[in-house]
Amino acid sequence: MPAWGALLLLWAAAEASNDCPIPCTCQALETMGLWVDCRGQKLTALPTLPAHTRHLLLANNSLQSVPPGAFDHLPQLQMLDVTQNPWHCDCSLTYLRLWLEDYTPEILLQVRCASPDLATHRPLGQLTGYELGSCGWQLQAPWAHQGIWWDVALIAVAVLGLALLAGLLCASSEPLH
Ligand SMILES: *[C@@H]1O[C@H](CO)[C@@H](O)[C@H](O)[C@H]1NC(C)=O
Repeated sequence: MPAWGALLLLWAAAEASNDCPIPCTCQALETMGLWVDCRGQKLTALPTLPAHTRHLLLANNSLQSVPPGAFDHLPQLQMLDVTQNPWHCDCSLTYLRLWLEDYTPEILLQVRCASPDLATHRPLGQLTGYELGSCGWQLQAPWAHQGIWWDVALIAVAVLGLALLAGLLCASSEPLH
């Protein structure tokens, strides 16, 4: 390995140990970015993560929730292991679920909920939006507010179509002069 390569690695290692959150261990990855290992540390909240975190191992902790937007400042984050935590699977976990769905969907079935009752022992990936709850917002069907007028318009179009069809049939069955 050329000297500058060794220097670069040393620099990366030093940089890595600089912002490594307290109970975790960090390693610079060859592919750039950081491997941050916080497994089995009894964490109840996310540690402050370095901006270049790429692999984040949080398995076997006491995490119940992840604040929405928690990983938005980690543009390099690609892999997240959040198994073996007592997740409280309500609407506030929707952010984590969507993140996992986008980046590591295969892990969604291994992430199990500890509470509430409805979700106990079930994989996060199996819960529907209804089961997770809405946090107060609602999915609005786009046509809901048009209500009855939408039905009336549909019926009018159908009737008009039928009338046209009947007219066409009559016209074509008239004898030619
Ligand atoms: C989980 O972490 C604890 C320490 O907090 C450790 O004693 C235990 O062996 C770990 N379990 C697994 C399955 O890694």
